[in-house]
Order: sequence, then structure tokens, then C-alpha cells
Amino acid sequence: MKSAVGKIFNAMLLLLAFITAVSTVSADKQTYIVHMDKTKITDTYNSLVDSKPWHQAVLDSLADVSSQEELEATPPELLYSYETAFSGFAAKLSGKQLELLKKMDGFVSAVPNKMLSLHTTRSPLFLGLQGKKGLWGSSDILSDVIIGVVDSGIWPEHVSFRDHGLPPVPKRWRGACEKGTRFSPSNCNRKLIGARYFYGGNLASGGSINGTEEYLSARDASGHGTHTASTAAGDVVEHANLYGLANGSAAGMRYTARIAAYKVCWPGCSSVDILMAIVKAIEDGVDVLTLSLGSTTAAEPYYQDYLAIASYYAVKRGIFVAFSAGNSGPGDYTAVNTAPWIMTVAASTMDRSFPAIVKLGNGQTFEGSYLYTTGKTLKSLPIVYGKSAGASGAEYCGPGSLNPKLVKGKLVICEQGVVRQTEMGLGVKQAGGAGMLIMTPLGEDPPTAVHVLPAAMLGALASEAVLKYVNTTKGPTASIVFKATTYGSRAPKVATFSSRGPNLAGPDVIKPDVTAPGVNILAAWPAETSPSTLKSDKRRVLFNIMSGTSMSCPHVSGIAALIKSKHKDWSPAAIKSALMTTAYTMDNRGKPIEDLAIDDLASPFAFGSGHVDPIKASNPGLIYDITAEDYLLYLCSLKYNESQISLFEDGFECPKKATMQPGDLNYPSFAVNFDLKAQNVTFTYKRTVTNVGIPRSTYKVSVELETPEEVYVIVKPKVLSFKKLNEKLSYKVSFIGPSRKKMAASASAGSLVWVSGNYRVRSSIAVTWL
Ligand SMILES: *[C@@H]1O[C@H](CO)[C@@H](O)[C@H](O)[C@H]1NC(C)=O
Ligand SMILES: *[C@@H]1O[C@H](CO)[C@@H](O)[C@H](O)[C@H]1NC(C)=O
Ligand SMILES: *[C@@H]1O[C@H](CO)[C@@H](O)[C@H](O)[C@H]1NC(C)=O
Ligand SMILES: *[C@@H]1O[C@H](CO)[C@@H](O)[C@H](O)[C@H]1NC(C)=O
Ligand SMILES: *[C@@H]1O[C@H](CO)[C@@H](O)[C@H](O)[C@H]1NC(C)=O
Repeated sequence: MKSAVGKIFNAMLLLLAFITAVSTVSADKQTYIVHMDKTKITDTYNSLVDSKPWHQAVLDSLADVSSQEELEATPPELLYSYETAFSGFAAKLSGKQLELLKKMDGFVSAVPNKMLSLHTTRSPLFLGLQGKKGLWGSSDILSDVIIGVVDSGIWPEHVSFRDHGLPPVPKRWRGACEKGTRFSPSNCNRKLIGARYFYGGNLASGGSINGTEEYLSARDASGHGTHTASTAAGDVVEHANLYGLANGSAAGMRYTARIAAYKVCWPGCSSVDILMAIVKAIEDGVDVLTLSLGSTTAAEPYYQDYLAIASYYAVKRGIFVAFSAGNSGPGDYTAVNTAPWIMTVAASTMDRSFPAIVKLGNGQTFEGSYLYTTGKTLKSLPIVYGKSAGASGAEYCGPGSLNPKLVKGKLVICEQGVVRQTEMGLGVKQAGGAGMLIMTPLGEDPPTAVHVLPAAMLGALASEAVLKYVNTTKGPTASIVFKATTYGSRAPKVATFSSRGPNLAGPDVIKPDVTAPGVNILAAWPAETSPSTLKSDKRRVLFNIMSGTSMSCPHVSGIAALIKSKHKDWSPAAIKSALMTTAYTMDNRGKPIEDLAIDDLASPFAFGSGHVDPIKASNPGLIYDITAEDYLLYLCSLKYNESQISLFEDGFECPKKATMQPGDLNYPSFAVNFDLKAQNVTFTYKRTVTNVGIPRSTYKVSVELETPEEVYVIVKPKVLSFKKLNEKLSYKVSFIGPSRKKMAASASAGSLVWVSGNYRVRSSIAVTWL
């Protein structure tokens, strides 16, 4: 794809919806997650419940030896001892200490800490959830599903986290409401039932926590965690809006679920802290984990990715885990958090917009979007291009870059690029500008931010036209009309920023898995954080509008909680299967869902199986189930060696003779990779479906491909006849490549659907030639 522009765009979006990590790792020491083999624990420290003394002793021995050799060696501090999910610890080690540790009996691996970033309401209605109907009306909604939100904390007093009408905290809950700065156990209630915070890894990796900007507690200073938590499980709040925009009833997807907040972002998030938070959440007893954060670089092998490893532990214990795919799109291979046991969520638009009508002096009119006081009009004003109104870089309109003499009272054109959107507005305002027009290099319907002055955001086509007009016109002018919220626009469309597959870490699994609303999402906001997150902005709001896969992920987590309360015995893989096989690929105009980055049809690498449909997902007909052992066998098929597998499961031995190919994982979609040079290649994969619909039912298969002349698909058998519920039946599907690659297409998309009555159990197919 258009990679140069894409890169600039990526940089911009990271700054828009993410809070980027700022940290400097001290040169000589680094923080590691160290995995130990529990079976090698020495008798002295052997205890069934507590391997911490062993971990401490290991570190002490390193200090003893190393201090003889290194003059300034300090004993390594034990940051965390991980015990329940696996045996290991986090510590800051010098190169020398790491070398010594590697030679010790029981050492398995050491993975350096990684600093990650946050992937920064109409949505229930858009998803078909409303009133007391359907899923929201079922009596199951009172059951006790607990959603763990691993994020930047929470604002406990927010009206979205009231607990009226909720029964007591479930007895099985073992979590805690930890005391800290402006946070006490009394801040928890029957809605917010747990709050913990983890910062050791962040500090050890050179991050700092500024007491005047951050609370050393689970209290949320950034707003991100409050926003995501309320999207997943916030209570119903009537007339929620931002400056009158998006006015309506705000509610989490599973508004009666309990919330447990695990704060790990300050604002940078350390993998050492996230691992500890996930381990604690497993012990505490959450049912669903939602994480809107991740790496901003490409996906790594799962044995190097502690987010994947920790998620495996959670999934093995029956916890559904959803992650955001990242905001690094639209380039290929940008999706992160791609392990097959994780639900990886892309972001798309809803049918709601906040139109800003920009009228140029020559009469041309364009529709952009805005987030500012509604109903305002900016009368016709002279336009000045930031680029010609300041020093080099002034086109990005950063604070201090614009010349007030040239900008005062004018409408300033700014280019989206290296400066955070709200900072651009601040730059224009400080220079005396009257308004701002933001130009986008790539993609339509770009998400906007809450600005400190009247501003409109334009898509790539409009931006080009405006720049051309300004270039070729003497005394260019424009006016902006900020219209009320409108509904009914064509949707969903995949957002340009949403990270894309294929999946670098496991190409045999399509990622992302699904898409959900992630553009202009209204949700709860802390009482002491401005909607622009600028410190100089003194405005305060109860609800704020944000965009990112950070916002789509908690939608899916909340919906998973809904499914879980209806089907208490379903495994995480079964819930995931239900959400994927019932996802839709047609938009509200009955046309295939589009991708805003290319202004064309979205591919499975943009939206996976499609857009989630909670109602359909609650009754999918068939499910593709996967056990924890299946995942381990899958890792074996990826040729992971013994020590790499042991990170997931101590002592697990791969079968001597391979039992499966990676494509045989019982995944609810198919990624088929042909080598461009190989001829007459056939891939045959096995799948097993479980009947959860009607006891006696017959399913017939139907396969569709964009380019059927290039790949033949054969399914055996073509009919599956079930006699009872929970019966499992298997089928094989063969993808037969051409004898010679005829066309230029490098990819083809399609579907394999099992149909019975009203059930349509759809698997996405993505064929790639590499
Ligand atoms: C902490 O934040 C305050 C307010 O933004 C700032 O003035 C101060 O310099 C910061 N302190 C450190 C140590 O960075
Ligand atoms: C939101 O809508 C409600 C009901 O339609 C109305 O009473 C209220 O004034 C609206 N609020 C804003 C800020 O527009
Ligand atoms: C505007 O003019 C500059 C040079 O004066 C050129 O680099 C740029 O491409 C032009 N932009 C458009 C949109 O025509
Ligand atoms: C597994 O592979 C890693 C990386 O290549 C290597 O360091 C390690 O020693 C291997 N372990 C085994 C048991 O072969
Ligand atoms: C591929 O199959 C075609 C038709 O069956 C055959 O003519 C051709 O020789 C085969 N090519 C290779 C490389 O096996």
C-alpha cells in the first residue's frame, strides 16, 4: 500500500489515540521476564505454594558472584515473582548477571521488558442492542460476569460505574480494591469490584511517574481506561453527550457486568507489569479480559511475546481475552496481538457522523467532521496555509511554529503528520487563528479529536482539492458550518488507521479476527481530565469521544461477556467462534463493507470475519471449539522447540511425529498461503464443528471465492447431519492451487458457509500468493 504516506499517517494516529510510551532504558541494565523450570527448584526452597524465596535466592546468588567481578554491582531487585501461571520472575539485570543466570540450573528463558502503548453511544443501538429486547432483555443479564480491564486505570466516581440494582459481589471473587493516591477500598462498589495497579516494570525500565500528572493508584489520569471500561460494561446513562454531540443513552455492551480495573499504563505500559496484572486477574477470578494496548512494531513470534504467553494462561483457565489489533494501518502486516487464542479486534465506523460543511470561496463544498460545540458557524474567513505561515514544519501547526502576524483571525490549514491533533489546534489558537482545517494524506472519513477551537477534519480527496484551491487562488477564503449529529450514513467501513494482517507471527491464521465500532465512540471520561487531554485546556466533560482500535476492543469484550452469561459452559474459543462465524460482511446499504483506506471493498486482512453481531452470535448454530492442548500442538506445528513451548506449558512434549499442520488448528477462518513459484499445490485442512443449535439439523456447505478460476475448493463431506446437541462432526477442505499462476492478483477472499435453516455459519477465506 501507499507506504510513505502510510507511515506519516501512522505516526499521526499513534499520537492521536494512543498515549505513547516515553522511557529511556538505562544503558547497562535491562528489565527481563525470566522463566524458570519449577521442576529444578532446590529442596531448600521447595514449597508447594510459594516459589518466591527460590526466585530471591537465584537473584541473590547473582549479586554475590557478580559483585566480586563488577565494582558497582548492586543485587538485582526482584520486581515480581510470578507463581500461579508459571514459575518465573521479573528483575533488572546487567549483561553479566544475565550471562550468569543463563548458566544456572532451572533457567529457561529471559525476555527483555517491552514498553507498549495504549491503542487509543450509539454503538449498542448500531449493534442491535436496545431497550429490554433480545440479549439485553434476557434474564441471564443478571448473572455475574466479571470483566478485567487492563489499561490506564479508572475514574471510580463516574456515573457509568454506579452500582444501583446490582446484587452483591460474587462470592467467588478474590480480587482487591487497592489503596493508593486518591483511591481507597471504599471507591469500589458492586459495579467496580476490583482495582489494582502495577508500576514496578515501568519504573525499572526508565519510566517515571510524575506525581502532579499521575495518581499512584488505580485512579485514571489519562481517560483511556475510564473510556474503555465504560464501553465494555458501563451502566446505562441517559442523555450522555459531548457538547450536545452524540446525545443519547450511553451504555456498556454488557452493562450489568462487574468491572475490575488493572492499571498498567503511566502512560507507557510495561510488559512486565501487564504480565503481572494478567496473572493477578486470573487469580482474582475475571471471566473476560480486555486489553486496548500493544506493541507499535510488527507482531513477534509468540514465544517472545509475553502478552501472548500471559493470554494463553488466561484462556487455558477459561477466560475470554480480547486485544486491540493496533492503529498502525493501513499497511500490510501491521496487526499485533495476533495469537490464535486471542480475539484481535479491528476498528470501523458507525452510521453516526458530526458533519462540518466546508465551503470554499469558489463555491466548492466538502463534508468533513468535527468535535466542538455544536451548531456554530465560522463565517467566511481568509485561509492561510500553515506551511507558508511559519518556519520549517509549520504545516503541522505545532504550538509555537506559526507566525501570529500571518495567522491572526484566519482559517489555518494544517497537515496531519507528526503533531498530535489536539496540539495542532492549540498551536493555531495560541497564534491567534480563528479556526483550523486539517488535511489528511490518506483515507476518507478520518477520525477527529476534540479541539480547543472550531476545526474541521477533511478526508484525502477533499484535502487535495482544498490545497489545490489555496495554491491557485489569490485571497482564498472558506466558511465552516458545524451541523448537528446525523445518523444513517453508510456504515460500517473499516477505518484507515486500523492495523491489518496478514499475521506475521502465524500466517496460517487470519488476523484481525473481527471488526467493531472504533471511530468517534462516546464513553465515560474522568472528571479532572480535559476532553482534548491538553493540560492548558480547562474544560471538563462527563463523556468524551475517542477513536482507535482501543475503542473497538472493549465493544467485543462486552459482547463476549453477554455471550458468556447466556452460555456459561462455552470455552473462550467457542465464544470467539460464535462471534466470528456470525459476523456480517454487508453494510447498512446491503453492499459489501468498504475499507476507507482504499475506497474499495475491505479484505479479510482488514476486518477478519467481518463486523460483530451480538444477537446472531448468541445463537450461532455450530461452533469451532479449540482446547488449550490444541493450541500447544499448533505451536508444535510452528516448529517451536522444547524451551519455547515450555514458556506456555511446563513439561509439554510435542509428539515425535507431527499430528497436524498449522492450518489444521480448528480455527473459524482459513488463511491459505500459496508459494507463487510452486505449482499444482493442494492444501487440505481438517475442521470439527459442534452442534449448539437445533438437535436434529442438516447443514449444507457453500463456498464462494473472488477468483474461483485460480483456486478450487473441495469440501468433504458437503452435508453434515447432526442428531443431537453437542455432537461433533468433522470435514475436510482442500484448496487446490493452479498449475500456473495466471492472474496478477496476489490475494483472493471468500467464504465457506454451513447453512441450515436460519443458521449461516460463515468462515472467512483469505488466499495469498507470496
Ligand atoms: C511533573 O509535572 C509538572 C506539571 O506538568 C511539571 O511542572 C514538572 O516539571 C514535572 N516533574 C518532573 C520531574 O518531570
Ligand atoms: C439530549 O436529548 C434529550 C432527550 O431528547 C434532551 O432532553 C436533552 O436536552 C438533550 N441534551 C443536549 C445537550 O442536547
Ligand atoms: C501546491 O504548490 C506547491 C508548490 O508551490 C506544490 O508543491 C504542491 O504540490 C501544490 N499542491 C497542490 C495540492 O496542488
Ligand atoms: C530453542 O531455540 C532457541 C532459539 O533458537 C535456542 O536459544 C534454544 O536453545 C533452543 N532450545 C532447545 C531446547 O533446543
Ligand atoms: C500440474 O497439473 C497439470 C494438470 O494436471 C499438469 O499438466 C502439469 O504437468 C502439472 N505440473 C507440475 C509441475 O506438476
